[in-house]
Amino acid sequence: MKIGILGGGQLARMLALAGYPLGLQCVVLDPSADACAAQVADLIQADYNDQAALHELAEQVDVVTFEFENIPAQSLNYLLENYPVYPPPIALHTAQDRLNEKNLFRQLQIPVPEFVAIDRFEQLQQAIVRTGLPAVLKTRSMGYDGKGQIVLRHQNEMTQAWRQLGGRPLIIESLVGFDREVSIIAVRNRAGDIYYYPLSENTHYRGILHYAQSCPDDHLQARAQDYIKCILDELNYVGVLALELFDVNGELLANEIAPRVHNSGHWTIEGAEVSQFENHLRAILDLPLGDTQAVGFSAMVNFIGTMPETAIVLGDANVHLHDYSKAPRPGRKIGHATVRSETQMELSDALKNLITRASIVKQ
Ligand SMILES: Nc1ncnc2c1ncn2[C@@H]1O[C@H](COP(=O)(O)OP(=O)(O)OP(=O)(O)O)[C@@H](O)[C@H]1O
Ligand SMILES: [Mg+2]
Repeated sequence: MKIGILGGGQLARMLALAGYPLGLQCVVLDPSADACAAQVADLIQADYNDQAALHELAEQVDVVTFEFENIPAQSLNYLLENYPVYPPPIALHTAQDRLNEKNLFRQLQIPVPEFVAIDRFEQLQQAIVRTGLPAVLKTRSMGYDGKGQIVLRHQNEMTQAWRQLGGRPLIIESLVGFDREVSIIAVRNRAGDIYYYPLSENTHYRGILHYAQSCPDDHLQARAQDYIKCILDELNYVGVLALELFDVNGELLANEIAPRVHNSGHWTIEGAEVSQFENHLRAILDLPLGDTQAVGFSAMVNFIGTMPETAIVLGDANVHLHDYSKAPRPGRKIGHATVRSETQMELSDALKNLITRASIVKQ
């Protein structure tokens, strides 16, 4: 069977790699000639709104999916008229706009940080009465890796923030003083069965995910599962979905969803019975889902901007390296490594060690 993927980055690459043992092949559509998934899948090099290219992709596959969140709505609608597309485009539509996303959480009675939609400068003053300060002003769409966001700590920072972000639909949210950030990843099939991965605890640096750890048996697992189940069922979702959450004194506040495989679930390749990538393929192809249970304790470290020396990363026998073969560029995710241990204690040491070794970059 063949899968068409809109987007040819590392997520598509890892989906394609997960498909190989099952005899599955992927074709990716990406505007870039050096899309890193093209090393392990066929590439159609075209813009996301090139209808002839979308047609060419969809004609040669059994199902179309996406790894890139900013696919133009009309491209998805075009595909949907004629071909099976999973996850459902309504999920993408929701995730593309932070206001839709937050309204969905509210509708499903999932707690969220206080927020207000902002279209004009005058609304900001009013809004901070609700959100308080500090608050974070964000573009409603097209943001990723913390881009399009400004933290406001004082009233007098509003003019400057508006100068940078104004003119586009915005949202302002209370800046939550969280104890930790977690995410839950789940997979739902066409029959509505849902399998949940253990929570992942995520540490960001300058708005970008730095490392993530699996949390088997976390005390907030059940609550997170309830929340993501509501979203999956509401959207009649098929495939892998991630829900990012803030843990504030044991209460979970929803931040955002990602209607795709997620960076905080990369550890599932070695740290779960069946990875998020394989389970996404299984779900969209209507194959039986695989076990999501953790195998030991895992942590994943992102390589951002530069790749460390391969031999140094592999210096610990429990480390698994993933080099996406992308050109190094500041702020760009170009690889990751996962370390797995028998106990949480061993994992903490191994993670520290990995982070230290990963900071030794290739000369
Ligand atoms: N309301 C908030 N309170 C506290 N921290 C926040 C808030 N919103 C965002 N952050 C911090 O900024 C990070 C990035 O924000 P967010 O997830 O909303 O944006 P993003 O650009 O879509 O990120 P990504 O695509 O990498 O998930 C969060 O993971 C969190 O660390
Ligand atoms: Mg996020």
